[in-house]
Amino acid sequence: MKSFKKVAIIIFTLTFGLSIFSCKENKSTMLNQNKPLIFYNRQPSDPVTGKLDFSAVSWNNRTYYLGTDSQNGGVTQGQMILDFLQNSNGEDIDRNGDGIIGYVLLIGDEGHTDSKARTEGVRKALDTWNNSTKPNIKKEGTVNVGGKTYKTVELAAKSMTGADGSTWNAAAARESMKIWTNSFGKSIDLVISNNDEMALACIASENFPKGLPVFGFDANASVEKAITSGLMTGTVTQNTDSQALALLFLVRNMCDGFLDSAVYTQGFSHGDKYGNKISTPFVYYNDSRSLLVSNTAINKDNWNEYMQNAHNSQISKVQSSRVKLLLSVYNSNNDFLNQNFIPSINYYAPLLNIDVTIIYGDGQNESSCLSKFTNLDYYDAYAINLVKTNNAHLYTNKLNEK
Ligand code: BGC
Ligand code: CA
Repeated sequence: MKSFKKVAIIIFTLTFGLSIFSCKENKSTMLNQNKPLIFYNRQPSDPVTGKLDFSAVSWNNRTYYLGTDSQNGGVTQGQMILDFLQNSNGEDIDRNGDGIIGYVLLIGDEGHTDSKARTEGVRKALDTWNNSTKPNIKKEGTVNVGGKTYKTVELAAKSMTGADGSTWNAAAARESMKIWTNSFGKSIDLVISNNDEMALACIASENFPKGLPVFGFDANASVEKAITSGLMTGTVTQNTDSQALALLFLVRNMCDGFLDSAVYTQGFSHGDKYGNKISTPFVYYNDSRSLLVSNTAINKDNWNEYMQNAHNSQISKVQSSRVKLLLSVYNSNNDFLNQNFIPSINYYAPLLNIDVTIIYGDGQNESSCLSKFTNLDYYDAYAINLVKTNNAHLYTNKLNEK
């Protein structure tokens, strides 16, 4: 009995001691430049050409980009608008009865991959695509409305940049919509926006023609009333809740010692050892080291279903050691991040035993985030939401310092 107790104590001490030792060792010897780094929502790329910044996403073998499948998002938004038109009565839509469907387009950020893909998807659907996502490059086309062919004209498109230089700016959207309402009057039949925040600003603009179909993107909590009451016709969810969970899974997996495909399959295509698994499919692209999720169109008929599945209730608490994650948000005023992404991060992080420290920027200058990107040795992993998509090196330089 006595010797059994002794053996048990030795085994216990060994196991317990060893696990603490290996955990400590990992942390003290792991340089910041070898730690997991996730870029999310704003893909490292050239803001003008859109070319991927591969050096950023391949900075170390624990670096990835996590976001929405931009192309699929644009196609989803375009198809949603086409479906709406096909199921409508042309006489209701064509407000001035001239046989033309006129629309205005609110562009979030000319250099942002999501924004560009939505502009492209909408123009392709409405047959106004002229091989460019630039505001003024377009052509006239045709579309089917309720079984009849109508001409399509993009009356105006503009990048919504605020006076302070911030992109996806709602105040700029409100002001532009007011100007368009005054100048185009009844020629405007549709309002199409790269995101919900700008779409809502249009609805709230001066003299906004009541009943005009408005399409946004993101399915933010703040559009619930507009969608369910019909003030806003449709939006698209980029399955943000799953994106947040995916970001945390990537971090968790890498901090648990997984590498390569195990990082983005464990908890994704198959459950982890706790049976935790994301319900939305993600696709991994090796050439851009990115993990992307698809998008789903939302309108008043499926809004409730979408809300009911706000979080994945099947995710259970993991037993792995605590991980400290430093996460940046490029703009403290962004609805999509504040209403969608961050609440999901806050929901799942405790379940995955991840302590998240969030730093917020002003949406204009990288320095607003970089000045808070400090005390880096303390963290086990980093998640970056770039203010300018070509600034990834400013973060990796800091991580390389030691
Ligand atoms: C969202 C926008 C948001 C932007 C921020 C996009 O994916 O749809 O609403 O403003 O990301 O980077
Ligand atoms: Ca018309």
